[in-house]
Amino acid sequence: MQRTEKTKLRRAKKRKSSSTRWLQRQLNDPYVQEARRAGYRARSVFKLEEIDARFDVVRKGRPLVDLGAAPGSWSQYAAKKGARVVALDLLPMEPIEGVEILEGDFLEPATQDALLARLGGKVATVLSDIAPDATGRRLVDRLRAEAVGEAVVGFACIVLEEDGQLLIKLVKGAETAVMDIARPHFARLRLLRPKATRSDSSETYLLASGFRPASATVTETPD
Ligand SMILES: C[S@@+](CC[C@H](N)C(=O)[O-])C[C@H]1O[C@@H](n2cnc3c(N)ncnc32)[C@H](O)[C@@H]1O
Repeated sequence: MQRTEKTKLRRAKKRKSSSTRWLQRQLNDPYVQEARRAGYRARSVFKLEEIDARFDVVRKGRPLVDLGAAPGSWSQYAAKKGARVVALDLLPMEPIEGVEILEGDFLEPATQDALLARLGGKVATVLSDIAPDATGRRLVDRLRAEAVGEAVVGFACIVLEEDGQLLIKLVKGAETAVMDIARPHFARLRLLRPKATRSDSSETYLLASGFRPASATVTETPD
């Protein structure tokens, strides 16, 4: 990643020092600069790009669902690579060519129903970069991340085609619970920390590959 000259901000009277620090970090972050140069809406695209280069999670011509998609860099990347993308976020998103966008809370059953209706069939890949609002209280944040993770695994089990892949962002500490839920349904689980993840971030990505649909329904017969 190319480094450019460091920008130092003078503290503006009305800006809090935490906002100044955030802005300074953004301005000096090579991934932010590179994303801007390449026309991507967020630096997080480099996390997906790195994982995709190793594990081929975004497949040309194949359907993919991107959860927690705003502002949209993962969807941009996937559409550019030729995947058929349906994106969902709580927040409105600017249109992206080749991407169908839905707005809603993934944790609401009605939103998941709308998403399933829009997908209209199985998908090769489920991506979730959903980041629940952080409270700063470690236990609460971990439980929230677990709840989202468990909901995403449940949704993936409905919508993934055989051998499909699931990539999901978690915070450290939430991996065990989410992996326990995912394990019976996938051939392989990997925990990944892409280079673009900030060094002070507690995020980690779970890649679950080789989806195994539940075997044919067991019909119970009376004794
Ligand atoms: C880190 S951002 C995603 C960045 C995105 N991957 C990109 O490349 O542009 C996390 C997103 O998760 C969304 N989010 C958080 N909770 C959600 C929920 N319950 N349902 C849908 N989206 C949610 C947020 O609104 C936010 O846009």
